[in-house]
Amino acid sequence: MIWIIHKKIADNSSHDYITRKVTVKTMKKNILLGVTGGIAAYKAANIISMLKKRGHNVRVIMTKSATEIITPLTLETLARDRVVTDMWEKKPNVEVEHISFAEWADVILVAPATYNVVGKVANGIADDMLTTVISAATVPVYFALAMNVNMYSNPILRENVDKLKGYGYKFIEADEGFLACNVNAKGRLKKEEDIVDILEKEFTEVPQTLAGKKVIITAGATREAIDPVRFLSNRSTGKMGYSLAMAAKKMGAHVTLVSAPTNLPRPTEVDEVVDVVSAQDMYEAVMSRYDSMDVAIACAAVADYKVKKYSENKIKKKEGDLTLVLDRNPDILKTMGEKKRDQFLIGFAAESENLLINAQGKLERKNLDMIVGNSVNYMQRDENKVVFLFKEREMKDISEMPKEDLAYEILKEIK
Ligand code: CTP
Repeated sequence: MIWIIHKKIADNSSHDYITRKVTVKTMKKNILLGVTGGIAAYKAANIISMLKKRGHNVRVIMTKSATEIITPLTLETLARDRVVTDMWEKKPNVEVEHISFAEWADVILVAPATYNVVGKVANGIADDMLTTVISAATVPVYFALAMNVNMYSNPILRENVDKLKGYGYKFIEADEGFLACNVNAKGRLKKEEDIVDILEKEFTEVPQTLAGKKVIITAGATREAIDPVRFLSNRSTGKMGYSLAMAAKKMGAHVTLVSAPTNLPRPTEVDEVVDVVSAQDMYEAVMSRYDSMDVAIACAAVADYKVKKYSENKIKKKEGDLTLVLDRNPDILKTMGEKKRDQFLIGFAAESENLLINAQGKLERKNLDMIVGNSVNYMQRDENKVVFLFKEREMKDISEMPKEDLAYEILKEIK
């Protein structure tokens, strides 16, 4: 199916934004919807009807508690298929149903996904049809979370979510809104239309413009040890670099991610993840691989200085001031610029003032093909608003968007 969306596109001639129609090819897919027993289970009806309208095949598995909230008949009628609720139901054929479900699906969506279902899957429990199918599936699985606010912020749920993310499961976080428990708080199922949009992104054909290319990306905030317990670092979350790594992978590249510490789950899709701590470690990891790369993107927030003398023992407090003498760290990106063969080199400039002048200076000083400039205010946010400056092209202003989407906008500029 051809899905027409309106997208803001930078108009090179004026730097203004114009709205154009962009056609994105979305394939008709087999979607297995798992409905679990949250109050939001009734919204599954809407999700099925939207998916059907967009041309997808939908099959539904309900947990026993979900059937207390909405009847299988309602969902069956909308899906135009038998809804499965029981693992031991007598079947007219002899196929092993949980395996055939797992094989039929291109993607599994659990909506709403309760505290309970996340806990079960995270701990290897498969005691009903839905959790059994999920455990046997090799396709992407999305959990659209919905629950009471205290359950939503319970560290046990967050730990289970992080564990599952580490295994490649995907999560659609809840929205803030009026909950069934009579409070306005986070825990409401994301709007049905947004859930369907997120799912369709999974099927959107990403142009394979980086096929066969080797891309190295630095990410995260480096740490400079002062003594065995203390270090110097910065507020970077690593989100932009990780988004770039995943987008480059989807665009067909062979991706090496050199990551300083972050709190993000390890991106399992990426070809090589090299964990580093200090700027010096990152320098060595990058420079030993740089020669064979086609594209290098320096997204890490690298400490410009390290302590001149690391203290083997914990520094004890004394009367008066304490002076730490700092030494310069290697500039990884500048070195890449100096050793550049024909690599396409992208840098970042996070500035608190004079964004364009500072970014332009770094573009020239570090011999880059492109630099992405943004305000430091976007550092710990999920969105970013940036400008692209190029060596040989006119600059582009990019409107604010999620870092996951911005990653594609950046990678599309690689020539
Ligand atoms: N960078 C790097 N190695 C360093 C410092 C920075 O690779 N030691 C890279 C960053 O990953 C980023 C770009 O250089 O892509 C710009 O980093 P930034 O910290 O903004 O600039 P600096 O070069 O450190 O300059 P200044 O301190 O003057 O802002």
